[in-house]
Amino acid sequence: MRPFLYVSTAAAGVASLAFAARVARTVLDRRYYEKQGVTFSRTYPFIGSETDVSGLIDRNKTRDYLYLDQPATDFVGSIRGFDIQLYAVNRQTTEILVSPAITGKYIDRDTPALYSFGQLSPSAMTFQKITTEHFGDRKRNLGKGFDQERISEVSNRRAAELCGEFDEDAPLDLKRIAGDYTRDVMGEFVWGQDAMRLAVSYKDRDGGLSKVPFMFALNETFTRLRFYSNRFWNRVYFPMATWPITQEARRLQYNIKQLQEHLANVLQGTPGAGTVWEQVATGNGKLGIPIEITRDDLLTASIAGLDTVQNTILATLWYVLLPENVKWREAIASSGGERKDELVEACVSETLRLSPPGSVINNKVIDDLDMDVEGRKYLLKKGTRVMPNIHALHAQYGDAFQPERFLLTEKGAEPYVMPFGKGRRSCPGRNLGMVMAKNFVSQFITAHPGARITNTADKDIHFNNLSQSQLMVVIGPGAAQGFATARSCPVLSS
Ligand code: HEM
Repeated sequence: MRPFLYVSTAAAGVASLAFAARVARTVLDRRYYEKQGVTFSRTYPFIGSETDVSGLIDRNKTRDYLYLDQPATDFVGSIRGFDIQLYAVNRQTTEILVSPAITGKYIDRDTPALYSFGQLSPSAMTFQKITTEHFGDRKRNLGKGFDQERISEVSNRRAAELCGEFDEDAPLDLKRIAGDYTRDVMGEFVWGQDAMRLAVSYKDRDGGLSKVPFMFALNETFTRLRFYSNRFWNRVYFPMATWPITQEARRLQYNIKQLQEHLANVLQGTPGAGTVWEQVATGNGKLGIPIEITRDDLLTASIAGLDTVQNTILATLWYVLLPENVKWREAIASSGGERKDELVEACVSETLRLSPPGSVINNKVIDDLDMDVEGRKYLLKKGTRVMPNIHALHAQYGDAFQPERFLLTEKGAEPYVMPFGKGRRSCPGRNLGMVMAKNFVSQFITAHPGARITNTADKDIHFNNLSQSQLMVVIGPGAAQGFATARSCPVLSS
């Protein structure tokens, strides 16, 4: 008995010392950055800013909203778990971070998302450093599969089917409809109509087992993984989200295993012609890239345009259907061809400025990094987490919905925005995401210009990847109140 007691006491002592040393290092690092002029958000020992972040998530906002109202500064600091996290909150600082040519050094991936939806596809490029073997080839192969004409055809067809079959008497749940749309379009685009529908064993939230279509199981598992990893303690210590200590974690892990095993079989087969699967499997195969990596890159391609595009559609429809923005709705409905496309694109771009669905993906400083931001010097230590805060960058242009900002043609007049990131780690699916969102919004507004939102009285309506907000609308003759002739607007009528 005694030796056991000694060993456990010694182990507990060592663990406490290691814990204390780690806490001390975080405190010293914080002082180090404060001395350089970094403003820190309110933090508490051990749990960092997570209490305040919980308050935001409860109000359908994301962590990034914490850093909006800071005094003029280059970086805002925070503590995540044991790590210092710096957010670049102005354009000058952001440009230095996303353009390695300026300092000769680069920052690179190290993201807590690995413990979230990264459990589905840990080898996917999203979670790998740029120095990983074949990184550039893999991103290029994915890009080759992203055929603009094909996504346009698939998304236009599906949007027309959905927008043509609405019931005029019952409220429409646009969240569900936009979710069905993104899942069907991404599934067909990446895998083809047959493979996306193959049955997979799936455990639902009550623990019930059934066979469901592959894309349904994937979408559900991906979305739930993100919500689960954003629970309080999983944000404080990221790896906890992977521990099988709750029923939800065990259920998610069961579904991940089924999806991975299913794909291991599917990838032995022949890809449908023109699919992303075909391009990536062929390109990666020629380079001898292992099949698990191809599987994970294809998984990433299948999920990256689900919640992001769904929320872009919901947020755009929300703004465009608000009575005060009626001129945009009417301008879209009454125009055609290129002009319609320009107007819808401006509305989607302004929406992505006001309500980006997510943030950029987190990075770490790889080598100590000297920065000079207009004469203000910083030395970022290797290992510090750092990323641009796109909400802060976008918020500098105010909170009014003004799509005309994106219709101005003079160079340099458009706002500095980056809902898809910037630089080598930026989103390769940007054009696909825009086409999918634009096609749905365009078809919906054109078919139902008089649609009316019925849940404007709901509390805290915001659309992003962590929001629970709904978008309920009615269409048909009874809905058109408030849809008046557009006020004369020089930008819109040009
Ligand atoms: C409106 C829709 C979308 C938005 C707002 C969006 C936004 C983003 C953002 C902010 C990043 C991180 C960039 C960075 O860290 O600098 C990203 C990365 C990525 N996105 Fe998208 N995305 C969208 C749609 C898509 C689609 C449709 C695909 C593919 C089908 C896609 C594939 C990816 C991939 C593979 C990465 C990781 C790139 C890397 O790590 O180098 N995204 N996206």
